[in-house]
Amino acid sequence: MRTLRVLTLLSAAVLLCSAAPGLEPLTCSEGNGPAAADKAVHHINEHHNHGYKFRLHEVQGNSVEQVDGGCNVKLQLDLRETKCHTINPKPFEDCEIRGMGARAVKANCTVLMTIKDGDASVTKYECDTRQEKTNLEMVRICPDCPVLLPLNNSEGLKSVREATAEFNKNTSNQHYYILKEVGRISTGYIMGLGMNYYPEFALVETHCPMGSRIIIEACIPLCPNRARHAFCRSSYSSQNGLLSTECDFYPAENTTLLGPGEKEPVCGRHGRRHPHGHGGPPPHAHNHGHGPPPDASNEGRPPHAHNHNHGPPPTGGKGKGSFHPLRRFHPCHGFLVNPDPALHPICPWPLPHRPHN
Ligand SMILES: *[C@@H]1O[C@H](CO)[C@@H](O)[C@H](O)[C@H]1NC(C)=O
Ligand SMILES: *[C@@H]1O[C@H](CO)[C@@H](O)[C@H](O)[C@H]1NC(C)=O
Ligand SMILES: *[C@@H]1O[C@H](CO)[C@@H](O)[C@H](O)[C@H]1NC(C)=O
Ligand SMILES: *[C@@H]1O[C@H](CO)[C@@H](O)[C@H](O)[C@H]1NC(C)=O
Repeated sequence: MRTLRVLTLLSAAVLLCSAAPGLEPLTCSEGNGPAAADKAVHHINEHHNHGYKFRLHEVQGNSVEQVDGGCNVKLQLDLRETKCHTINPKPFEDCEIRGMGARAVKANCTVLMTIKDGDASVTKYECDTRQEKTNLEMVRICPDCPVLLPLNNSEGLKSVREATAEFNKNTSNQHYYILKEVGRISTGYIMGLGMNYYPEFALVETHCPMGSRIIIEACIPLCPNRARHAFCRSSYSSQNGLLSTECDFYPAENTTLLGPGEKEPVCGRHGRRHPHGHGGPPPHAHNHGHGPPPDASNEGRPPHAHNHNHGPPPTGGKGKGSFHPLRRFHPCHGFLVNPDPALHPICPWPLPHRPHN
């Protein structure tokens, strides 16, 4: 199974190599801007495990400083948010960029890279993630276009809860799903219907079998690579309640059936395998929204950088296992200047150490 997967990945890489000029070894000439930018955007998306994937719009600056044995490159990149949530397995290159009417989002990124012996590596980046037009500008251009609400807006979150409850009435699903993340919440006033809410959100499959009499919120997600995911868009009216919910399903990465007597592995809320297996309360069940969840300071780092959790390493790779359904804002908000509460920003990398106090 694993061999097959590696082979598939390899052949995909070969295809990419032959198609994209970007994967020739990078040299230290200014003409390498597009190839270096391509490498940087891959790196950024690999470390971006919340909100939506981003694509390159424009290389705005490219300076090369020659140093011993190679060079340091500084790129100024203009990225655009796509419609693919990070749980969507589609490569970001195939994802559609949001149009202006759909409240487009841009990220202005400064990326530092080092090239030595044809080997390029990203050493640092910082991005400023913003809506392309502010609400005020939008009102002038398009008074009827939706406005983005902060991700912790109570009415918006109520619409997400109702849509998730509706989703869990679908008896074609094998298990209940719970909220993984709210992607964005837009809103608009409609004559006769009052305020309408259009949330987008990601759900993750849990251990709880469909139809079991159980408090769904207490269900714990399947391990990240064994869970199906769903990405949903719904509409909700303050007067008439939930109007519609439409979801895309993404299959689990690991669909290997369990052998006789073998139990589904347990990973817990943080996507880590739980050493005690089945039984007992779901890990961290006590943490219901007050204060930051444990491990907040570890989020957003490269996955192998600082795993201060003892026990087996997280499954699923790429740090995608992190699971914080009750967190509205990414902890990297604390490192950003005036973050937009309606967006999932691209976090700086590497994430600076949070001062202990
Ligand atoms: C898939 O999941 C099963 C059950 O946990 C596990 O035994 C197997 O090693 C996994 N396969 C891969 C390729 O991770
Ligand atoms: C992007 O950020 C850089 C560095 O912070 C700044 O100099 C530049 O003006 C910004 N570009 C835009 C279009 O905001
Ligand atoms: C949303 O978060 C902001 C910033 O943390 C906070 O000031 C505000 O009170 C929150 N609003 C709600 C409805 O929780
Ligand atoms: C119910 O779930 C299945 C997948 O389990 C999906 O294909 C189908 O579209 C869902 N039906 C509705 C009405 O959402």
